[in-house]
Amino acid sequence: MTAIFPSWATRAARIALACGVTALVMTPLLAMIWVRTPLARGEKLSITQPVPFDHRVHVNGLQIDCRYCHAGAERSAWAGLPATSKCVSCHTQAWISSSVFEPVRQSLATGKPIPWRRVNELPDFVYFNHSIHVNKGVGCETCHGRIDQMSQVHQAASLTMGWCVSCHVNPGPNLRPLTAITTMGWTPTKSDLDQMKTLTADFKIKRLTNCSTCHR
Ligand code: HEC
Ligand code: HEC
Ligand code: HEC
Ligand code: HEC
Ligand code: HEC
Repeated sequence: MTAIFPSWATRAARIALACGVTALVMTPLLAMIWVRTPLARGEKLSITQPVPFDHRVHVNGLQIDCRYCHAGAERSAWAGLPATSKCVSCHTQAWISSSVFEPVRQSLATGKPIPWRRVNELPDFVYFNHSIHVNKGVGCETCHGRIDQMSQVHQAASLTMGWCVSCHVNPGPNLRPLTAITTMGWTPTKSDLDQMKTLTADFKIKRLTNCSTCHR
């Protein structure tokens, strides 16, 4: 009786099976590893903006407070971006005649905002609120890093669920006095630390790990 399959077929079938199983296991595994890398999460990725706005010049050099341009951070869920009129209070008509200011001129002419590209962005199913954090002593620096040293803003934290929860289980050590909310490069003094102890007690920080806190 002649064999239906030649002798090499079994070997080929085994190899194919092995490859199939490896692919089945490795593909989701690699995908799971990949989504957790800083690159896939958009961390440290530099994003080119329509106008080369430099926080180093405006925050460090000119000492403008974050809230002058991101006023919503203290009052609402959104920190918000400044209206173009804020820029032209300093950047007068003569100044913005140069080519880098073309999108600023466009915005003034059309009344449409400058099309800034988003840097930090959570999925829609996550609820986040700036004012709650800012008014309870979480500084901008804690979540956004040294903005004063960035020529282009990049995402400084992973913004994963694990990142949010790791602070929510015990926010105390991550808090600072409200007077230092927008300070960059903050280092606590002894009196700050004493003040923090009473502040932390005042905050009545609950365990903020209920799913419904962030998924409502
Ligand atoms: C003079 C106005 C101005 C000041 C002052 C300022 N910013 Fe900004 N900020 C902007 C503009 C314009 C953008 C959008 C362009 C960009 O990303 O650089 C921006 C972008 C950002 C972003 C990224 C937004 C996103 O899409 O995720 C963060 C975070 C931020 N600023 C934090 C800060 C912090 C913290 C301070 C204070 C230390 C500060 N800014 C001070 C004007 C300002
Ligand atoms: C409080 C005043 C002030 C405000 C408000 C302000 N700027 Fe500036 N900006 C300056 C000064 C001063 C410089 C530094 C000029 C230098 O050192 O050459 C500068 C520099 C710049 C530069 C680089 C200039 C160049 O010619 O390359 C850009 C771009 C710029 N600003 C954009 C903006 C935008 C966009 C806004 C609004 C979101 C804004 N600025 C708000 C004062 C301001
Ligand atoms: C607890 C962490 C946290 C703190 C504290 C925080 N931010 Fe944010 N910020 C975020 C997250 C997360 C986003 C993205 C929000 C989204 O996509 O819904 C964001 C977005 C932004 C944006 C983009 C525009 C917007 O409103 O979404 C700006 C500008 C900004 N933050 C500035 C600030 C400034 C200025 C401060 C301090 C006064 C601050 N943030 C404090 C986490 C934080
Ligand atoms: C560095 C610390 C820290 C990080 C990081 C942080 N939070 Fe918070 N969060 C707090 C503190 C402190 C409070 C205020 C607690 C209180 O009111 O007692 C708070 C409160 C909240 C509240 C309001 C809870 C309520 O119902 O009163 C929401 C929603 C929230 N955080 C969402 C988030 C999300 C989403 C992230 C991640 C993108 C995040 N937080 C990251 C410290 C943090
Ligand atoms: C402090 C805020 C916070 C709390 C509390 C929280 N989540 Fe999340 N969750 C997030 C954020 C932020 C993301 C988006 C993460 C991302 O983009 O990778 C997320 C994503 C998710 C996702 C989408 C899958 C994923 O991992 O990206 C699921 C499912 C989820 N959360 C379920 C839960 C459940 C169940 C609980 C309660 C045990 C919970 N979350 C509590 C902030 C929170």
